[in-house]
Amino acid sequence: MSNELRSRGWFGKTGKDGFIYRAWMKNQGIPSYEFEGKPVIGICNTWSELTPCNAHFRELAESVKRGISEAGGFPVEFPVMSLGETLIKPTAMLYRNLASMDVEESIRANPMDGVVLLCGCDKTTPSLVMGACSVNLPTLVVSGGPMLTGKYKGKDIGTSDIWRFSEAVRSGSMSLEELTVAEACMCRSRGHCAVMGTASTMACMVESLGLSLPGNAAIPAADSRRKVLAQLSGIRIVEMVKENLKLSDILTRKAFENSIKVNAAIGGSTNFVLHLLAIAGRIGVELSIEDFDTHSKDIPLLANLQPSGKYFMEDLYYAGGLPAVMKEMEQWLHKDCITVNGKTIGENLSDAECYDREVIAAGAEPFNDISGIVVLKGNVCEEGAVLKPSAASAHLLKHTGRAVVFEDIEDYKNRIDDPELDIDETCVMVLKNVGPAGYPGMPEVGNMGMPKKLLSKGVTDMIRISDGRMSGTGFGTVVLHVSPEAAVGGNLSVIQNGDMITLDVEQRILHADITDEALKKRKAQKAQAPSPYNRGYVSLYLRHVQQAHLGADFDFLRGSSGSEVTRDSH
Ligand code: FES
Repeated sequence: MSNELRSRGWFGKTGKDGFIYRAWMKNQGIPSYEFEGKPVIGICNTWSELTPCNAHFRELAESVKRGISEAGGFPVEFPVMSLGETLIKPTAMLYRNLASMDVEESIRANPMDGVVLLCGCDKTTPSLVMGACSVNLPTLVVSGGPMLTGKYKGKDIGTSDIWRFSEAVRSGSMSLEELTVAEACMCRSRGHCAVMGTASTMACMVESLGLSLPGNAAIPAADSRRKVLAQLSGIRIVEMVKENLKLSDILTRKAFENSIKVNAAIGGSTNFVLHLLAIAGRIGVELSIEDFDTHSKDIPLLANLQPSGKYFMEDLYYAGGLPAVMKEMEQWLHKDCITVNGKTIGENLSDAECYDREVIAAGAEPFNDISGIVVLKGNVCEEGAVLKPSAASAHLLKHTGRAVVFEDIEDYKNRIDDPELDIDETCVMVLKNVGPAGYPGMPEVGNMGMPKKLLSKGVTDMIRISDGRMSGTGFGTVVLHVSPEAAVGGNLSVIQNGDMITLDVEQRILHADITDEALKKRKAQKAQAPSPYNRGYVSLYLRHVQQAHLGADFDFLRGSSGSEVTRDSH
């Protein structure tokens, strides 16, 4: 086997080159036998104190290392750019592609035979999987796990409550002191957001794609069984290298379809669309935005988790975890898809069991017949837009209203609480210039808060349309990812106050009552502002970022360059 190992191209060499490759590793106190033909497994770590959701990852890496050593491998842990959702300005999404480049080049350039990706906070999962796909070594994902459920004044709380709390403060029913107390009550343990937000969605995405051991998605970060899974993953990656089971063997078209269906059943985040499209683009699987509608439309909601439902990831784990949800979906899944443990999805589900029907519904008795992600088309979104019906209000799923337009997020912030703002609950709020290029970075501002004067009247939802994203923890009748975005001249750019906009979810329509002629005329009259970004990463980003319906990856990053390194500097 040793001749086939990629790492032998470094550690198996003789003479000066081999000396240099091994000697500088030995300064870490590594004995010679570690270099004698063992599979070298990289542990790609997104640990950072600036990514609080991933702050426990050094400990997790130790468990992975134990497994790798136990199975006869040689573990090497390395850091990559870590994207913490809460602290990074202006938005972590601006850097997802940059982090993926770091991951791709770090894996390819170094002596690794296989990789374990340690992922947690939202963007740390897609950026690592995207980068790894462009190298295509045997790769396995270990997620960091969700936080324990928050507890505040006798109630269970999670990240979705931030939106409720902030509206309560704005309407005067909650004090700022109470809000401060709630902070510590919500984030009371290690781990990522405890609801089915983007991080949990991403953990479920990798499990449903077959990239992690079964059960990975839901084990709480603080539960000691998370470490057991990490150790077992370490053992398994060594076997995967021996079997040469690569990402491209697992990430087939069918695996992507499975993942779309599972995301529907769990009420996963709309961010899933962007990230899965980008991952498919890297591994070379044809996937379109329409696939998300096609493959999720018959899938009912089977997980009763916030923000679409009531419970938290901790509850999902105790109820049987993602395997128990997928077990209820067997009739819809491609059960022959192979996964990282060498078994098929069907084999992995054979002994899955549900322990709590309050949290995981039987396939025949779902919590809601509506789930998934709806893809809308129309003259407001020529290439598409998305909406999560399970998080929307039923009475707004077919509605026509007068547009109240905010040209950018600052315009929105300046005017939303103005008592003179001409708006009522039948209006459609439109926010422009928060797309991939417009902001830039496509921030999670699409579920913009209600105008104060309507909040105090008890209005809790209105149709909101933007080219931005929504936090996976958000909810409401929110149309997102309008493509093409306003900043690149999509029709959205010329929607004006007073235009009548129709949302018809059943017909998949988002339409403004304006003729094509009028749209053209408005565009011709619109002046293009010069970009203020002419250097550094953001200028590269703006030149190459693709639109939301393509996953917002860079055009030059689509596809794979493989794992071969042909030149040697010594
Ligand atoms: Fe990291 Fe929510 S902030 S997962």
